[in-house]
Amino acid sequence: MPQKKRIAIIPGDGIGPEVISEAVKAIQASQAAVETTQFDWSATRYLADGVTVPSDGFAMLARDFDAILLGALGDPRVPSNIHAKEILLGMRFKMDLYANLRPVRLLDESLCPLKDMEPKDIDFVVVRENTEGAYVDAGGVFKQGTPDEIAVQEEINTRKGVERVIRYAFEYCERHTKHDGSPRQRVLMCDKSNAMTHAGGLWQRVFKEVSKEYPQITAQHLYVDALCTQMVRDPRQFDVIVTNNMFGDIITDLAAGLQGGLGMAASGNIHPGKTSMFEPVHGSAPPIAGKNMANPLGAILTAAMMLRHLGLEEATRIEAAVLEAVRQKRTTQDIGGNCGTKETGDWVATRLAG
Ligand SMILES: NC(=O)c1ccc[n+]([C@@H]2O[C@H](COP(=O)([O-])OP(=O)(O)OC[C@H]3O[C@@H](n4cnc5c(N)ncnc54)[C@H](O)[C@@H]3O)[C@@H](O)[C@H]2O)c1
Repeated sequence: MPQKKRIAIIPGDGIGPEVISEAVKAIQASQAAVETTQFDWSATRYLADGVTVPSDGFAMLARDFDAILLGALGDPRVPSNIHAKEILLGMRFKMDLYANLRPVRLLDESLCPLKDMEPKDIDFVVVRENTEGAYVDAGGVFKQGTPDEIAVQEEINTRKGVERVIRYAFEYCERHTKHDGSPRQRVLMCDKSNAMTHAGGLWQRVFKEVSKEYPQITAQHLYVDALCTQMVRDPRQFDVIVTNNMFGDIITDLAAGLQGGLGMAASGNIHPGKTSMFEPVHGSAPPIAGKNMANPLGAILTAAMMLRHLGLEEATRIEAAVLEAVRQKRTTQDIGGNCGTKETGDWVATRLAG
């Protein structure tokens, strides 16, 4: 019998624990061969003992686990957000999870705010650079609190970092089909190289070079502002999009809107061959936390994405159960149902067990 895959579960803050417990329920109901271990890294733990990530925490995750399933981090009780920064950004940076893969797929036409969109029309992925850019927190403030205050937020782009994420996007395009079975054929790089010439110039040069290695794939480019318009006007045109950390963060919230909102969007933080981390795109949503209102389907789709990454075919059954929940409106209010978080998760689990 093959060894069970070892999954570290980090529910985190706010709605994180609520949606992650439904995702774990779905994994268990699918009978995927995994064993789970839960970690309490969160605002509550930080407020109790001052620990964000235990010493050796990331090395332990990389050594002892095949994948990590994370909820969300962010809690009004920790206004500095230090715990979220150390746990979430720490994991992305220190475990070098350089490709943030965010599939944008319309499961059912009822979920899309655009008119006349069918599931086949919205089926693209965004590959967001995940270890550099504007989120490395380089910079500083000078003369803080005075009228002469200066704030500098630097953006880091390395040749290595840009090249590997662009190559990841082309490899992804080459190796994956769309959900209707048709091949993926286009990689679009999105930047703001007309205004941010130094970083944009590097991205432009590397994109041109790497695209030559994949002559069968069409290489395209859009400025990020133009891309936002196009994403709303005609999302059919997109296939694989690759971009930097900040633009990827922003355009995938816009893209989540096409799929039914933040409660439906899944993501993976990936370094091929290393322990990778999977999390729903949404945050900890403090206003709805503890109210049994959060949509757990994004977290459940994230669990399916993780299982597929690990080569476990139960992913397909979990996705089918989520689709059926959407079709039968056994969902939370944000996407038109009248179930709670738990009832939605129970329905999916029962469907999987049946
Ligand atoms: N990856 C992460 O852990 C992550 C990502 C984004 C934000 N955050 C943190 O989360 C906190 C709140 O941030 P925010 O309000 O900007 O973003 P958010 O994603 O938490 O919430 C934005 C909006 O979407 C709704 N929403 C989000 N997830 C939902 C779900 N599953 N079901 C139904 N509705 C849902 C919320 O009600 C809210 O109106 C902040 O501390 C922020 O830093 C964490």
